[in-house]
Amino acid sequence: MKFRKIEEKHLAELKQIVGEKHVHTDREMLENCSHDYTEDLRFYPELVISPGTTKEVSDIMKFCNREMIPVTPRGAGTGLSGGALPVHGGIIMSTSRFNKIISIDDRNLQATVEPGVINQVFQDAVNEKGLFYPPDPASKGSCFLGGNLAECAGGPRAVKYGVTRDYVLNCEVVLPNGDIIWTGANVLKNSTGYNLTQLIVGSEGTLGVITKIVFRLIPMPTENMLMLVSFYDQEKACEAVSEIFRAGITPSALEFMERDCIEYVMRYVDVKIPLKDNVMAHLLIEVDGNDKDVLFKECEKIAAVLEKFEYDDILFADSSQQKADLWKARRSAGEAVKSHSIYKEEDTVVPRAELPRLLRGVKEIGKKYGFRSVCYGHAGDGNLHVNIIKEEISDQDWNEKVPLGIREIFQLCVSLGGTISGEHGIGYVQKSYLDIAFNESQMNLMKGIKNLFDPKGILNPGKIFND
Ligand code: LAC
Ligand code: ZN
Repeated sequence: MKFRKIEEKHLAELKQIVGEKHVHTDREMLENCSHDYTEDLRFYPELVISPGTTKEVSDIMKFCNREMIPVTPRGAGTGLSGGALPVHGGIIMSTSRFNKIISIDDRNLQATVEPGVINQVFQDAVNEKGLFYPPDPASKGSCFLGGNLAECAGGPRAVKYGVTRDYVLNCEVVLPNGDIIWTGANVLKNSTGYNLTQLIVGSEGTLGVITKIVFRLIPMPTENMLMLVSFYDQEKACEAVSEIFRAGITPSALEFMERDCIEYVMRYVDVKIPLKDNVMAHLLIEVDGNDKDVLFKECEKIAAVLEKFEYDDILFADSSQQKADLWKARRSAGEAVKSHSIYKEEDTVVPRAELPRLLRGVKEIGKKYGFRSVCYGHAGDGNLHVNIIKEEISDQDWNEKVPLGIREIFQLCVSLGGTISGEHGIGYVQKSYLDIAFNESQMNLMKGIKNLFDPKGILNPGKIFND
């Protein structure tokens, strides 16, 4: 192993940089940072450090670069691809002290924040000024914006408003050698050189440590309507999705949940959803804007489209409580499945009209390899979360046979014009499948970029690429 273990002398120097109380080696802290939300994976760091300034981050990086100590940046640890796991040990660099909203500029509809701000806290702060920051991953109540940038998080609203990268104008980044850079400018248009900002977004903490973010914001829509539609047939529900867009409507959310997902959710959270015996799937559809009459007409139009796909019932949420309940149900899907069994999370994505073929293929592949899956996700984006349930599967099959099935699912995605992650990233758990999405030439370009930023390979090693 090329990396150095942390010794007493390192500890002393790190304490000098950030102050004694921000260097943690206690069992509880190491335990907390040994896992994120990915499967049941555990990798222990040797220490956890919580810098409070960009200069401190820079000094830590310079030191670790010199000493060959691996550094894994960590936000709230809600990731689903193992991005924050210290797979080679070393240091966890926590961004928890970077928790300030520095400014909300309502003249320019921009905000500057630190990476340890919780997504929901930021949304609430801009809402108070009538502004809107749309990206809303399921973990929005706890996830950090820095992690959202690292993985280019999405969420239900991405279908109309785009994903995290569509709101990032500029960021301050500490490079692996300790240099501090701004990646772009605080402007809405920028044709000046390569787009380093967008290279950092989605780079999974492998190219630099994000220490400030400049977002663009939009005006807050004032109205929304939400409906839950039940279907007898899962594939028909998926077929309906692309037809809604073809009818000229862009919903602000269009989510799919198969029957098992609803069943798990109702056992996990206190929300009641009508579920007849012959109902096999639901679409949760939201429209938003500033004019209730327009939204009402859009809902009528959607209902007319859905007629062709043999739905059972449409439930309109008629109170904000009912809306909140339905969203709570949808957002708890992952945790509900996890409370039942360990699962592998596949973040498949295809052009949306191919969704029925993807879903059918996933179920066929599951039969062939002997696993059951619970599927739900952002159907309007063609982004289906496939939760492969361990249940009674032996450890050997789980580790050897199931990955062959996953490989086939990803091959199907690519053959349908899609790819292997829509919003969770490659991280640790999907890296051995990256060859399905990219050929040698593409891989070499990406590895070359990593090497340019981090020639010694100390920043978040063991992620995206096989070692
Ligand atoms: C969701 C997470 C898993 O959509 O992305 O619930
Ligand atoms: Zn999702």
